[in-house]
Amino acid sequence: MNLILDSTEILIESLHAARKDRTILIRPDFLDDEKLPEEERIAVLNQIFNQKIRQKQLSRIIAHLTPVLDRSHPPSALIYGPTGSGKTVSLIHVLSKFSEAAARRGIGFKYVYIDLTSPKTYFGALNEAAIALNESNRRYRKGIPVEYMQAKIKDAIKKSSDYLCLLIDEVDNIRPNPDGFLTFFGKTLPRKVDCRLILIMLTNRLDWEKTLDPRILSFLKKSDIIFEPYDALDLLEILKLRAKKALKTDKIDPAALNKIAAYASRETGDARKAVELLTKAVQVAEDSSGYLGLDEVDIAEHRLEVDKTIELIQVLAVQQRLALQACYCLLRNGSIKITTGQSYETYRSLCEIQNYRPLTQRRFCDMISFLDLYGLINARVVSMGRYGKTREIMGALPNQVIDRLLSTGRSP
Ligand SMILES: Nc1ncnc2c1ncn2[C@@H]1O[C@H](COP(=O)(O)OP(=O)(O)OP(=O)(O)O)[C@@H](O)[C@H]1O
Ligand SMILES: [Mg+2]
Repeated sequence: MNLILDSTEILIESLHAARKDRTILIRPDFLDDEKLPEEERIAVLNQIFNQKIRQKQLSRIIAHLTPVLDRSHPPSALIYGPTGSGKTVSLIHVLSKFSEAAARRGIGFKYVYIDLTSPKTYFGALNEAAIALNESNRRYRKGIPVEYMQAKIKDAIKKSSDYLCLLIDEVDNIRPNPDGFLTFFGKTLPRKVDCRLILIMLTNRLDWEKTLDPRILSFLKKSDIIFEPYDALDLLEILKLRAKKALKTDKIDPAALNKIAAYASRETGDARKAVELLTKAVQVAEDSSGYLGLDEVDIAEHRLEVDKTIELIQVLAVQQRLALQACYCLLRNGSIKITTGQSYETYRSLCEIQNYRPLTQRRFCDMISFLDLYGLINARVVSMGRYGKTREIMGALPNQVIDRLLSTGRSP
């Protein structure tokens, strides 16, 4: 059959073909493992998790767990480390391998992952644990007694193997305080079930244990393990492994990966950020030349920055947004520096137009300090001699962000 395409169809086909030529990303899962369901995530991590650079931490954890292989009972562990230092991935990896090693010796060792990424009350955390232990458990809202949830957990654990390891991620998210939760898992429950429980808690707050009751610390008898942040070389290793699996390597300049690692390590050594920057740079490259070089990394870094600032502005309270708009309205009109007095006047007229009651000048000054703290403006105190002090305000946002800011609500 002779296929005749009209001009629009030809355009679609040619654009599709051009896009295909520029494609760099071939396996997206290898760039974003955190969104995958647990089993798939473990499979992906088996391929991209870089054990070499976490050797020290992995040995500490394994050394802590090895008594299990001789049928003794290791104590609980608390693992600290900044965000993106690989706590969650390392633990999931180690525990899944450890259960295989135990099984080879005929020892039943099971682990469950309890995810407390969003803040939970005592009841909410118990509910999360019950679901992790037995998927058929429901998520309850309210009106269910705590004892009921505890009984559900006890029932789920009864059927368990010799050892049960509870991996409690972001344990500091149990609010207002985790004492009840830890007492239940650390003291009450071990007496009621046959299997041996091991608690492994992860947190990024070093001061978390200070909030606990000393009696709880005493019966937990926990050991502490620290996860140090990654440096630029570690991040480079992580990126290389991912790039090899997820991307067409002939379309990537190796120096671009170095640059991404350097950018990410400059801040906090967060591996999540490094991978995020790589993903963004790949997008930039696919939308333009189809080659990931140094320029694409710079553009991606800038875009991520802009995205984050826009997100921050979106969650500001109304009065804070108005104060910020007032500053940028004036700065847009040609001034390089403005004073608090000038911006307060503009703020008042903005409030009037948008039907909000303006705050007093003193409260307005507090908001200016807050906006300065978040890096949305630069405010500097200057002395005016006998006229007292004022603050000079200068801009700190890129033009794209200012455009977006001033287009929300009406400017005077
Ligand atoms: N050694 C590594 N090899 C490959 N990827 C890693 C490694 N360490 C961390 N990552 C990646 O970095 C991201 C963050 O890691 P992880 O979730 O373990 O951090 P975390 O220490 O638990 O941080 P948070 O405290 O924010 O939960 C994940 O996407 C993970 O895949
Ligand atoms: Mg984590």
